[in-house]
Amino acid sequence: MVVGEIKTIIFGANGMLGNDLCKFFPDSIKFGHKDVDITDLDKVTDTLAEIRPDVVINAAAYTNVDGCEDEQEIAFVTNGEGPGYLAKACAESGAVLVHYSTDYVFDGSKKEYFESDTTNPINIYGKSKLLGEKRISDQMEDFRIIRTSWLFGLKGNNFVNTMLELSGKMETVKVVNDQFSKPTYTSDLACKTLEIIDKVPGIYHITNEGVCSWYEFSSAIIDNVSPCSSAEFPRKARRPKYSILANSKTSPMRHWKEALRDYLEERKI
Ligand SMILES: NC(=O)c1ccc[n+]([C@@H]2O[C@H](COP(=O)([O-])OP(=O)(O)OC[C@H]3O[C@@H](n4cnc5c(N)ncnc54)[C@H](OP(=O)(O)O)[C@@H]3O)[C@@H](O)[C@H]2O)c1
Repeated sequence: MVVGEIKTIIFGANGMLGNDLCKFFPDSIKFGHKDVDITDLDKVTDTLAEIRPDVVINAAAYTNVDGCEDEQEIAFVTNGEGPGYLAKACAESGAVLVHYSTDYVFDGSKKEYFESDTTNPINIYGKSKLLGEKRISDQMEDFRIIRTSWLFGLKGNNFVNTMLELSGKMETVKVVNDQFSKPTYTSDLACKTLEIIDKVPGIYHITNEGVCSWYEFSSAIIDNVSPCSSAEFPRKARRPKYSILANSKTSPMRHWKEALRDYLEERKI
């Protein structure tokens, strides 16, 4: 698809992924949370009716996994109903909807998950994101739902930045060694989104290659780190032990270690 020739809207443009999407879709119309709240059905409907985009990319979400346990209503409205409003408006105006979902729609009882595998989220964040997937697929045909995992990117708080901060403050940083997934650089994901728009409708699992635990991930970032178990580090939301997304539909992206090297260089600039 020639990006310059199509009219694209990005919602959630000020988030971590949204920021990189803006770089790969420079001519897009960009809306942050204050410009368009995706939970406002009238605003969403009017915006799409006025602009009549070819493609709508939704990077807006409530992404605080522990926060979702406390603020369940906000989680379900933002991650569930909001994407449904976008889907309804896209169906009415004939636009393609690209939406991002998560590895946390799975329960972690399998070592890896294909796009067609049965979902069974074990926390509110995962349940709310699954509702978003359902609302979209119930209301339109021409969608691309991109499930991804463990994002890091230049804009926003992420695990890599947290590790770098803690490393300077603590003698040893303890990190859990019993949750496994695929870390993914938002810049790589944003670039891959260009390709996914041209693919057939459906669900896509898009991550950097390579599986690791949070501890193994942290060891690639800082030196003063030691492993611990999830039991030693209780969190409000349960996390799946394995949330490894297997991509059976497109060419693989590069290994997360290579992406991390680039990220660490770029954040210095
Ligand atoms: N981060 C991860 O590790 C991860 C892993 C798997 C999947 N994902 C998915 O990937 C996507 C992008 O994640 P991200 O990490 O880039 O998220 P993020 O940095 O938290 O950005 C989300 C953006 O959405 C905005 N937003 C929140 N509620 C909104 C609303 N009602 N209307 C409009 N905008 C709203 C936020 O604005 P405010 O900050 O002003 O509220 C923020 O700018 C999400 O769908 C997420 O579920 C993320």
